[in-house]
Order: sequence, then structure tokens, then C-alpha cells
Amino acid sequence: MCGIVGYIGDREVLPVLINGLKRLEYRGYDSAGVAILGKKPHIYKCKGKVSDLENHLKGKADSGNIGIGHTRWATHGEPNDINAHPHSSYHGKFIIIHNGIIENYTRLRDRLTERGVKFKSETDTEVLANLIEYIYENGNVDAELAVRLALSKVVGAYGLVVMCTDEQDKLIAARRGSPLVVGVGNEEYFLASDATPIVEYTKSVIYLNDGDVAIIRKEQLILKTLQNEDSAPTVQQLSFDIGEIDKGGYDHFMLKEIFEQPHSIEDTFRGRIRSEEAELHLGGLYDVMPKLIDAKRIIIIGCGTSWHAGLVGEYLFEDLARISVEVEYASEFRYRNPIIHKDDIVIAISQSGETADTLAAIKQAKEQGALVLGICNVVGSSIPRETHAGVYTHAGPEIGVASTKAFTCQVTVLTMMAILIGRQKGLISDEKYRSLIKEFTEVPGKIDKILTHSEHIKKLASLYQNATNALYLGRGYLFPVALEGALKLKEISYIHAEGYPAAEMKHGPIALIDDKMPVVIVATKDSSYEKIVSNIQEVKARNGIVIAVVTEGDTVIRGMADHVVEIPEVGNIFTALLSVVPLQLFSYYIAVMRDCNVDQPRNLAKSVTVE
Ligand code: AGP
Ligand code: GLU
Repeated sequence: MCGIVGYIGDREVLPVLINGLKRLEYRGYDSAGVAILGKKPHIYKCKGKVSDLENHLKGKADSGNIGIGHTRWATHGEPNDINAHPHSSYHGKFIIIHNGIIENYTRLRDRLTERGVKFKSETDTEVLANLIEYIYENGNVDAELAVRLALSKVVGAYGLVVMCTDEQDKLIAARRGSPLVVGVGNEEYFLASDATPIVEYTKSVIYLNDGDVAIIRKEQLILKTLQNEDSAPTVQQLSFDIGEIDKGGYDHFMLKEIFEQPHSIEDTFRGRIRSEEAELHLGGLYDVMPKLIDAKRIIIIGCGTSWHAGLVGEYLFEDLARISVEVEYASEFRYRNPIIHKDDIVIAISQSGETADTLAAIKQAKEQGALVLGICNVVGSSIPRETHAGVYTHAGPEIGVASTKAFTCQVTVLTMMAILIGRQKGLISDEKYRSLIKEFTEVPGKIDKILTHSEHIKKLASLYQNATNALYLGRGYLFPVALEGALKLKEISYIHAEGYPAAEMKHGPIALIDDKMPVVIVATKDSSYEKIVSNIQEVKARNGIVIAVVTEGDTVIRGMADHVVEIPEVGNIFTALLSVVPLQLFSYYIAVMRDCNVDQPRNLAKSVTVE
């Protein structure tokens, strides 16, 4: 949930830390701080954003070559200067930054308090700092062993970096449940919660695994387990460049990522789908394909937008592969004591690969013997490492908190899976297979075409920027799109919006219709077109306002709706990929016109790694 950075080498450490924290601020931001080792180690921290920390640092900037930094998304103790990280231990020998939750911190704190240890903050993290120092001072052990012994007493999740003022030649990093990446330079090492602050310095990275402890000196990294067994680090090469994590000339990351969708879908196709040979391969599923073919039931789990993608998956798998599907909120699934049969297949969808509820649901499904697959956007993140197999979305880093390109890439992967399984089950003829693949590869070009209407959508947004409510309606594949459109609007413009199956209108929501609330209806030409036309008439008959997403050339709805946005004609199974794009742009422009913080909406974080 927060951002962690660390550095050891010959560079001036402060600029590396501040630059790194700025790249991570989207992950969670209510306070920030840095610590620099040296003759007199210094900690600078304050409530607010990294820019507030920079102002706080002015004139105090200390020089040094080893340091750590943190942006916080509070879980224990309100956002304020004292609770901000880094935290130092009671005698100041240990300085720590932490992402995650120490679940048994109360008991640990009580035991330390009984032994005379004093606390400054309300956080669980400070308990860990004091526990490490208590063991160090009373156990006659070195810093590394004190850290490992303390962590062996901890229940909960952590990604953390520790510095010891008695041993100023090293950083000690550890992870269990919260992500931590090491950047490998030339006689220098970088640490961060993900690769975005690292890629401008080096593309060689080590993704720490749960249970890993890394002892990092300028010239050497030693990787061990919590039980002090040696572990061999795996160095990977990052596949994206710094340019991909800058705004690239767009006003916001979200707009950049909306416009990147044709490219990111093509990247998700890469090496998997080839139109000319009419071939579709998903290497990550080779070993489990027989089980997918025989599956009686697929359970899709996820949160937020990923859950919406799962709903599209339900239509896809039932349509093309004739497998029954249940889509579950991961947070409900994990606490519901669900019935999972041995031959069930669970598919976990997550952009970040770190969502705590989804991770917990995966572990529960595995314990009950299910085969668990992952659809994830971050290589090396926790969910891909926890699942039996899976398919990456290759959307590239998604920095905007509101998920856009990740959603369309998740639906792309689900569509590839459904076509492949349907084909392998003999449910899709050669001819149908060829035409589906050809049509699929034309989707990026059709999205490009929709993006050329952005000015028209911007004008529409200006008409409804002051709305206080909105209703989104859709049927079939377009019902999840209506939900996703509503989520986009509410999470970045703070306008209350609800998504509904269009047919549900008459069971309640129709009472909401008035001449102020925009009703966005996704009404492309598909099997339920006539029905959705009636829904539009129901809204208009009550003096409602209809903004309709329609198939190019539609004259019927154009004659009824107040506004239309056209999208190219496309087969039923691909309509979700196209029709979501106007809704993403609509919410983006409204949020900008309302002066909202589009990339970092209030109260939200990009990756919800706490429950
Ligand atoms: C979507 O715009 C939100 N940012 C949020 O609902 C998000 O989809 C959800 O938190 C799940 O995140 P994940 O895909 O990284 O697991
Ligand atoms: N639990 C710690 C705190 O509340 C860390 C939260 C985070 O991950 O930022 O300070």
C-alpha cells in the first residue's frame, strides 16, 4: 500500500530517494519520510505528499550514500508526522520502513512495554523496530540475526528495510506478503516496492519472495531465508523503459493509459495470437489445459475493476467454452467458507498482483485443492508467484489509480482463454476460429478509431460535469461494462454513479429517472438490441437524459437519445473491449473539469495490499 525505496552505493542518496518516492507516490500517500546514515543518522518525515517532505527538507539536506525512504498509506495510527516512516527504535540503533501490517503488534508492544520500552508513535511498525533493538541489545546478536529473530515472532505482512547505526555498511531487507524489488547496479543496489523507481538506473532486478531476507552491502548482496538458509537470487531483466512510466506528453497517467490501450492489447497478443496463421497459444496454460478442458466450473475472483473483468469472463467462458462460471468478490469469497470442489478451476484477476483480499482468497482456494490460475499485470508480483499457472496481461506499468488499460488487457486474456478452450473442446469450428482470431486482431485498430472521438466525448463531459448522480445500464457483455463505467466516474470525479443490468430498471432504479441525472446506456448492436431500445424509450418517456454508446451508423437510437457516441461494429464477444473506452474518457474529462486529482483520487491507492 505504501512506497518503499532504499539505496546503497556511491551516489548522493537523497536525490535517489526523493525521485524514487515520487515514482511510487501513486501507491499510497498520506505521509512520507527519508533516513540517511552518516556520522549522525538523520530522519526527516512529515504528513502529506513527497512535495511536502521536500519542503520540510529544505536546507537540512544531509549528504550520505546509504538511505531509505517511504510513502505511507496508514493502517495503524492516523496520518501525522509522528506516525510517518521511517521509525527509529527506542535507543535509535535501528531505523525501519515497512509496508504491510504486523497483526500481533499489540501483544508484542505490551511485552516490550512491560520491559520498560517506550513508544513514540501509534504504529505497528515502531513495535517491530523496538523488538529488533530489544533482541539486539539483550541477545548479544548482530543486526541481521536480530532482524531475523524479530521477524520470526511477527504475524502479518511486511516488506521492509532496516538500517543499523552500529553497522552502517549494509541495508537489511525482508518480505512476506508485501512486494519488494532489488535493483542490481554496478557496486550499488536499489530497493523499491516495485520496479518503477529502479528502471532508470538499472534493468537488472531481483523480486524478493516471501520469507526472503537480503543483506545488502555496496559490493555484495546475500540472500537468505528467515531460517538463515542460503538462497540463490534470480536476476531478471525489466521489459519496460523509463519512458513508459512518464506521462509521455499527456496531462495525466490515466489519459496516457486510456490512449495506450490499442498498444497494450497488441502487447498482450504478442507471441500468443497470430492472425495470418489463425493460431492462438497461451504458453502459461500448456500444462493445465487438460484440466481446463475438463473443468465443470470456473470460479473467478478479484476486486474492483478486476472483478468487472471477471464478469465479462463469465459471459465469455459460458458462451465459447460452455463452462459454468461463478464470479466472486475476493473479499467475500475468502470469508464465506466457500465450497470448492477438487476439479474446480479458480482464476484470480489482479492488475497489481498484490491485492491482499485476492491473495488471501487464492491461498484459501489452494488449501481446498483447487487449481488456481492468475491473470496479472506485474511480473514477479505476489499473485503470479502464489498461483499454479497463469497469463500476464503485458499492459505495462499502470500508474493511474483508476484502472483502464489493465481492464481491457484482462478482458483480452480472458477472451483468448475462452476461445482457446472452446476450440480445444471442439466447440469452435476451423472457420469460426479463423474469423474470431481475425476479428480479435482488428480490435486495437477499432479502439484507435474510438479514441479519435475524444473531443466529442469531452464536449459531452462538459455538459454533465456538475451532475450529482448517474446511472449506467447495459445488457449481457455490456452489463459489466456499465458497472465499470460507473466505478470510473465515482472513483475519480466523486459523482455517485450506479451500474445496473438494463432490464433491472423496472425493478427499482426507474424511480430515479428525472431531467437532471444522466443515464448512460451501452446499446451496441447485439442479441439484446431491441430490448435495450425499449429501455431507452422507458427513460425518455419519463423525461430522462440518455447518453447512448451505439454501433456506428445506428439511426434508431440516434433518433431517441439526447447524445450518442459511436463505436465500430464488432462481434458480441468483443463489445466490452470497445464500449468501455468512451466511458473511461467520459469519466476522465468530467474529473478534470471538476479539478479532481485524477491520477491519485482521494482515499484511494493503486494497490490495496492491506485488508
Ligand atoms: C479500479 O479502477 C480501482 N483502482 C480498484 O477497484 C482496483 O481495480 C482494485 O483495487 C483491484 O486491484 P488489482 O487489480 O490490482 O487487484
Ligand atoms: N502498517 C504500517 C503503518 O500503518 C505501514 C502501512 C503502509 O503499508 O504504508 O504505518
